[in-house]
Amino acid sequence: MINQREQWGSKRGFVLAAAGSAVGLGNIWKFPYLVGENGGAAFILLYLVCVILVGLPVVIAEILIGRTTQRNPVGSFRELSQGNPFWMAVGGLGVLTGFLILSYYNVIAGWCLGYVVESFKGSFQQIENPALAGELFSSLSSKPHWTLLFHGLFMMITITVIYAGITKGIERASKIMMPALLVLILILVIRGVTLKGSAAGVGYLLKVDFSVITGKTFFLALGQAFFSLSLGMGALLTYGSYMSKKESIPGSALQIVILDTVIALLAGFMIFPAVFAMGMHPAQGPSLIFNILPVVFNSIPAGYFFRIVFFLLLTVAALTSTISLLEVITTFVVDEFRLPRKMAAIFLGIVVFVIGLPSALSFCGWQNVRLFGLTCFDFVDFISANIFLPLGGIFIALFVGWFWGAEKASSHLLEGAVNLTPFLVSAWSILIRFIAPVLILLIFLSSIGIL
Ligand code: TRP
Repeated sequence: MINQREQWGSKRGFVLAAAGSAVGLGNIWKFPYLVGENGGAAFILLYLVCVILVGLPVVIAEILIGRTTQRNPVGSFRELSQGNPFWMAVGGLGVLTGFLILSYYNVIAGWCLGYVVESFKGSFQQIENPALAGELFSSLSSKPHWTLLFHGLFMMITITVIYAGITKGIERASKIMMPALLVLILILVIRGVTLKGSAAGVGYLLKVDFSVITGKTFFLALGQAFFSLSLGMGALLTYGSYMSKKESIPGSALQIVILDTVIALLAGFMIFPAVFAMGMHPAQGPSLIFNILPVVFNSIPAGYFFRIVFFLLLTVAALTSTISLLEVITTFVVDEFRLPRKMAAIFLGIVVFVIGLPSALSFCGWQNVRLFGLTCFDFVDFISANIFLPLGGIFIALFVGWFWGAEKASSHLLEGAVNLTPFLVSAWSILIRFIAPVLILLIFLSSIGIL
């Protein structure tokens, strides 16, 4: 059965699919507002350091586990640990996290799709300030049929891609959507930086002021690097399990990390010049792109067109990520329970849709349903992104660095990577054994309020 496992048609296909997993709402929605709230260029610099010291080594580690075993997260840990229940539970935690993240991420993705429709309808034309945009958002998201319609629709689109398989589904979709995404974002960056008064926004992204960096800035930057690169739950592990042993893992990992980082930076250059050109403040928090940008488009030439482009960009970015999340759980069920992929994709898509209902309803009817003081949406987001992902990340680093062992792991890393120098191998093994687990432990402790 293992011999029949499908493989990516090409290295480029794998890199685009994995970069598609990484590039998502994290890059276009979250990264810019974190930059805006945490001091601009200084935050970006810190983010880049985290990506290089922690992001890249863990990306390599995850792909390596998957490619070596050619299995899902649970099966991978089972094989490499000879059935050790603790490590299998780490794989299981990854699959569970996949269910949880997809369940609420798909709700936001659905809004993006819904906003494409609203933009076509011209719903934003009379909206003159961010407060009115906020009201529009509340009035749309508080209608259960609107939220649930797009939550369901988005899940159906995601299922369709997974149903079609690795090469015919994910790879083909990524080869179309990733270049499209780049074109869409470039159109918007060019629009942004050519607005009158945009120079202040560009300066904001380039002038580093170290005095704004605090311990909290560092944790936020590291946590963001982790989420943005899709780390900690076996998404890249799963994609790696369809990779051929003839391709170089470090080479692919570097390309994935560069694409993810460049797109986050471009999102900054798309948003801040426009925000500054309109005389608005950068520290707007999570509503930055939903409430500020739609208004900004009202006062720029051809804003109607650019607004549609913008929400399309968000939708495409979200879709390449929901695909990777559904693929993790589908691969798990197909490998472990030998269900046919097509059946698994439909069944799991429906299950995740249902798990996502409380999150979707957090905005329409269930506002007062609270778990530990949080709405269902915020609760699922918190435990999956702030607790399960860093925990998964620590265990993945410790597993590869110490249990499986950096030396054994390195011998598999060299397969397909003929040009990898001994220096780079040692650098990777130091990062994965010491630096990554310690730094991830710090984000974990800070996100649960201990640091
Ligand atoms: N990386 C995606 C983003 O930036 C989100 C995502 C997709 C993700 N798959 C993941 C995050 C797996 C963690 C784990 O939006």
